[in-house]
Amino acid sequence: MRVDRFLSNLPRFNRQQVRLLLVEKRVRVDGKVVSDPHTDVLEFSRVEVDEQVLQIGKPARYFMLNKPPGCVSATRDPQHPTVLDLIDEPHKDDLHIAGRLDFNTTGLMIITNDGSWSRRLTQPQTKLPKVYYVETEQEIGPEYAVTFNQGLYFAFEDLTTQPAELVLLGPKLARLSIVEGRYHQVKRMFGHFDNKVLRLHRESMGPLLLDDALKPGEYRALRTEEIHLI
Ligand code: URA
Repeated sequence: MRVDRFLSNLPRFNRQQVRLLLVEKRVRVDGKVVSDPHTDVLEFSRVEVDEQVLQIGKPARYFMLNKPPGCVSATRDPQHPTVLDLIDEPHKDDLHIAGRLDFNTTGLMIITNDGSWSRRLTQPQTKLPKVYYVETEQEIGPEYAVTFNQGLYFAFEDLTTQPAELVLLGPKLARLSIVEGRYHQVKRMFGHFDNKVLRLHRESMGPLLLDDALKPGEYRALRTEEIHLI
């Protein structure tokens, strides 16, 4: 929300007073004086007028997890363990998953309470590549890379997938880079050639790489510089 709207929503200030507070440089967001009424105020921002704290700002939290097979990318599931069961943190209800993985898919999973940050990471418009290591049942032909690069029509969603890059690592092994995360996208892309995906592992999401030190099921907080990459 814009800072001028945030302030004028409070019963104590009207719009004229808010304009003056900003001009007089009496408003601080995260410790910095702001005079631009368009400045963003998030739920994580600390907002002060003079020496008064109007919003403390809750801590933003960011984690990477090495998802093991056999767990659900959901916050709750009646039958199976979920990725959130693997996380030992307070206020887990606040957390959400940025880019789900299927039950048996492994690898990089990002968990956060910062919705605008996670949208930047996952929305197709930002075109951040999500890189998967893929093992298949049948051999992968040279025509796959051409078709994936042209895009595949998904009738259910009535859309054509964005160009994807396939690098062959062996007859039945490849690295696939896609910029969106449609439902079962990688399996459906290989399914176009009647080729079943036997193993799927996410190695990276944009600039965030799965930490080698994390064993399946382990997680760690993202470092400040990793958070700022998105
Ligand atoms: N594509 C899939 O088919 N499954 C995943 O888990 C991720 C991408």
